[in-house]
Amino acid sequence: MRTLQGNKIVEAEPGWRDEVLRQGPVVIDVGAGDGRFVYESARHDPASVYIGLDPDAEALAEYAFRAGRKASRGGATNARFVVASIEQLPAELERLAGRVRVNFPWSGLLRGLILPEAAVLEAIASLAAPAASFEVVLCYDPVHDAALLDDDDLPVLDYAYIDSVLLPAYAAAGLQVTSRSRLSRDEALAIPSTWGRRLLHGRPRDVFLIRGLAFHRASA
Ligand SMILES: C[S@@+](CC[C@H](N)C(=O)[O-])C[C@H]1O[C@@H](n2cnc3c(N)ncnc32)[C@H](O)[C@@H]1O
Repeated sequence: MRTLQGNKIVEAEPGWRDEVLRQGPVVIDVGAGDGRFVYESARHDPASVYIGLDPDAEALAEYAFRAGRKASRGGATNARFVVASIEQLPAELERLAGRVRVNFPWSGLLRGLILPEAAVLEAIASLAAPAASFEVVLCYDPVHDAALLDDDDLPVLDYAYIDSVLLPAYAAAGLQVTSRSRLSRDEALAIPSTWGRRLLHGRPRDVFLIRGLAFHRASA
């Protein structure tokens, strides 16, 4: 498994998973982008381990570099970064997280979450330890961002779409939605996300938070 240490890509040591589990409860941020959510959350919550997952090592390098500094200079040993896509998850991450988080997904990850695609949802569920929770923050404008999914139209995101399309598909993949809510602009801006801030400063947008519990089917 490829990890970032500072701005270097390093193959994970064989004991990586055990070491992470010893550090504390694990939160995995899927599609972590520049890693800001992971870094800032890790600094605020030193008892937990935050793992940013993204296939774009260059993007992750920004906050991976900050996390890799000495603690006195803003480092965070409980912030970790894995270079991988949700479609090709390393075995080390399987059932590791007590909480799986997705902030402001875009491109392939957004497609999987909103069309929705069983393979992406099942991959997200596969990161979850027994009784883990998940949280997905969705924000796009079906008209302004219309070109986002190439040939597919972006569905209008509202409670009706979430309840009638997303809930059953998420449940079938092992993600039981327990709440969905529209965030105020201030609530959305309070999420330490570079991409979220860019979206929200550009134009007024709806932001939805979908939360729930992951479960593993008996056959899984
Ligand atoms: C717009 S950024 C959002 C980044 C971050 N979550 C934030 O809030 O700032 C979307 C991220 O999702 C990542 N992404 C896209 N497709 C993905 C996939 N299939 N698996 C994992 N990450 C993906 C991209 O590399 C990108 O960094």
